[in-house]
Amino acid sequence: MRKPFICGNWKMNTNRAEAVALAEATAAAAAEVTVVEVGACPPACYLEAVLAAAQGTPLVVGGQNMYFQEKGAFTGEIAGPMLADLGCTTVILGHSERRHVFGEPDDLISKKVHAAFACGLKPILCVGELIEQRRAGETETVVRRHVATGLEGLSPEQAAAIVIAYEPVWAIGTGETATPDQAQKVHAFIRTLLADLYDARLAQAVRIQYGGSVKPENAYDLMREPDIDGALVGGASLKADSFAAIIAEAAKAKRL
Ligand code: PGA
Repeated sequence: MRKPFICGNWKMNTNRAEAVALAEATAAAAAEVTVVEVGACPPACYLEAVLAAAQGTPLVVGGQNMYFQEKGAFTGEIAGPMLADLGCTTVILGHSERRHVFGEPDDLISKKVHAAFACGLKPILCVGELIEQRRAGETETVVRRHVATGLEGLSPEQAAAIVIAYEPVWAIGTGETATPDQAQKVHAFIRTLLADLYDARLAQAVRIQYGGSVKPENAYDLMREPDIDGALVGGASLKADSFAAIIAEAAKAKRL
């Protein structure tokens, strides 16, 4: 049984006081559900404050990005061991904003995935197509490349522990969500890829989140789909009420 994982990606938002208040409210919402795992990825400079607010609660706290080297002359970067040292247990890698705004290529993301495992962090590997790619019928080609390169060289144990977030780029921050059917099709495709790369049992164990304009109004229908195991939530994770509502909708959908 895969436990759904609802994780907030706060991106470059909040100030310190807002981050602490949001972390407290999110931790309280996380403590109310047992069928769903809940996480938050705040800006790196507020990780310590958020981790303190999450202490003693089931809220999982993670980084939004990291570099693959352990230390050295890499101005502005954060190393995986630094995130782990603070108490993070997960890290988002290959987010579409990293890929498309900051130009991160697949091989860099692959190095980061290995570096995350090396220091005990579980990566949330983001994959997903641009609107032009969807229109050109290239969704599966792009997703296959992201998944295959992101998982390259991982042991079966590591691959089973990874979380994949399918985030169609055209749905991120646009208010336009993939329909449950559109998302389910790609999630099922990712599971067949995992079965090809590893085996059917492993494919059934990996959690695949959906991301892209998830909100309280669409969370239930998305989470009812058999291959959607939670969500990576941007905008709606910044409001404690809407994030708590998404968590509650996911719990309701998965309990039935
Ligand atoms: P959104 O962002 O929920 O604001 O669309 C999702 C994401 O970028 O992870």
